[in-house]
Amino acid sequence: MTHQHEAEERDARQFWEDRYSERDRIWSGKVNPVLSEIVADLDVGTALDLGCGEGGDAVWLAGMGWRVTAVDISATALQRAEQAATERGVDGRITFARHDLATDFPSGVFDLVSAQFLQTPLEFPRAEVLQQAARAVAVSGRLLIVEHGAAPPWMPHDHDHPVDFPTPQQTFDQLELVDQHWRIERLEAKERQATGPNGETGTLMDNIILARRLA
Ligand SMILES: C[S@@+](CC[C@H](N)C(=O)[O-])C[C@H]1O[C@@H](n2cnc3c(N)ncnc32)[C@H](O)[C@@H]1O
Repeated sequence: MTHQHEAEERDARQFWEDRYSERDRIWSGKVNPVLSEIVADLDVGTALDLGCGEGGDAVWLAGMGWRVTAVDISATALQRAEQAATERGVDGRITFARHDLATDFPSGVFDLVSAQFLQTPLEFPRAEVLQQAARAVAVSGRLLIVEHGAAPPWMPHDHDHPVDFPTPQQTFDQLELVDQHWRIERLEAKERQATGPNGETGTLMDNIILARRLA
């Protein structure tokens, strides 16, 4: 790893540690709704959860019978996720691991590779990481990316770290998938009502990219 990469990893790790340390819990602990809707129709298999946060998705997937590898840059988030898995009795079906996905992508192939809101205001090679995510999908498996297509109404505007919000097509194009090897199953932006960290309600825009690997 170069000195620049080491400094970027330190910054990213510290940023997310600080973010998670602000509160005992950041996210709802519930599964993301698009993931649960899509996975409900799939055969159970192996899943990779990229940027798993406090484990809401990983714990839900394991509860549905999936064998899950869940990774995040934040040790605090992973500890909370492991605790949630233990409390729900599904820890035996989840492997948690700390990875900075910018430099260290998990090995293996999976029936489902899921990136739910893998978005950061920091420097992050997102296109390359999502391309690696696509390469980690087993034949007949699926890649599911759900991302903010617009700033959540409760998101503070950070002038030092402005966040770009892509369209579903832009994110799909970044994957650079070989057409013949993939079938697009969903490519859309969808609004949903949600509750923010302080109990406020608002409308979120979810970009949904779901592609099935054919070969
Ligand atoms: C917006 S949160 C989404 C968390 C979770 N997927 C969810 O939907 O609740 C983004 C997550 O990505 C993680 N993350 C950010 N940069 C990362 C990196 N370079 N490598 C691995 N995880 C990272 C953060 O720690 C955080 O948990």
